[in-house]
Amino acid sequence: MMLSGAAKIAGVMGWPIDHSRSPCLHGFWLNNHRIDGAYIPLAVAPEHFSSVLIGLSRSGFRGVNVTVPHKEQAYRSCDTVDEDAKRIGAVNTIVFGEEGQIHGSNTDAFGFIENIRQYADFIGGKSVVLGAGGAARAVCVALLDNGATEIQLINRTIERAQKLASELGSKISVCNWKTRHDALLDAAILVNTTSLGMVGQPPLDLTLDLLPTSAIVSDIVYVPLETNLLAKARARGNNVVDGLGMLLHQARPGFEAWFGVRPEVTDDLREFVLKP
Ligand code: ATR
Repeated sequence: MMLSGAAKIAGVMGWPIDHSRSPCLHGFWLNNHRIDGAYIPLAVAPEHFSSVLIGLSRSGFRGVNVTVPHKEQAYRSCDTVDEDAKRIGAVNTIVFGEEGQIHGSNTDAFGFIENIRQYADFIGGKSVVLGAGGAARAVCVALLDNGATEIQLINRTIERAQKLASELGSKISVCNWKTRHDALLDAAILVNTTSLGMVGQPPLDLTLDLLPTSAIVSDIVYVPLETNLLAKARARGNNVVDGLGMLLHQARPGFEAWFGVRPEVTDDLREFVLKP
């Protein structure tokens, strides 16, 4: 699609940015909806983040996504932030106001739960979350807001899990990494937010014997799409939800704010984004 002088422009700030799938996914929606607009990768080193952000806010950009390693710095750089960004302590979506105000939000919790809802029926209950990084924070916020009665948070570095639990409230209890297999008893949902199982990383060593077969199992790793955890869970009858949908759904609110159209996550989009 050719751009006019009135084209709506957005992008994604990261460092590095060349592996980001966001330009591809927003490009798919822009093309499908025949929008006079563009979404471009922006390679921004950490030391230049805040000056580039201010520059973009004064350049006619509608807004930007923010990815690794800038999400926490983005949180500190915004004029206003939404409630989820405050709870997660990070911003992934920025909308510039007409006078250049910088408004930050975090759509990762939304992306996580929308992805679960697309494939499974989560009605709440005991939840088990592996990992305690930024992704775990978003997953815990989503689970707490959608009926989790308790969350057992399990991380190799226990102090990180304890910090997350103390910040997000009393429904989260911390378990030792060694006891991860036993924590699965009575769980309604199990989510891996660690990098274990990702291409190039060690496998996730987890025995599923105690996990009810009625539990939903999700992995935020999506390379490979079917991780060992998901394959094992599927084989014993659990409903599994892969991690690609979280990436796709978290992009929807930004796209709607910048380009004025509410986009959908479809099988066509999944295929398009997975193409090498
Ligand atoms: P993100 O922000 O994407 O969640 P992160 O902050 O780097 O990424 O978190 C990665 C998660 O994977 C952490 O929970 C990390 O555990 P630690 O907090 O102990 O580092 C977990 N992780 C990475 N490699 C691991 C390994 N070999 N064994 C167990 N956990 C691992």
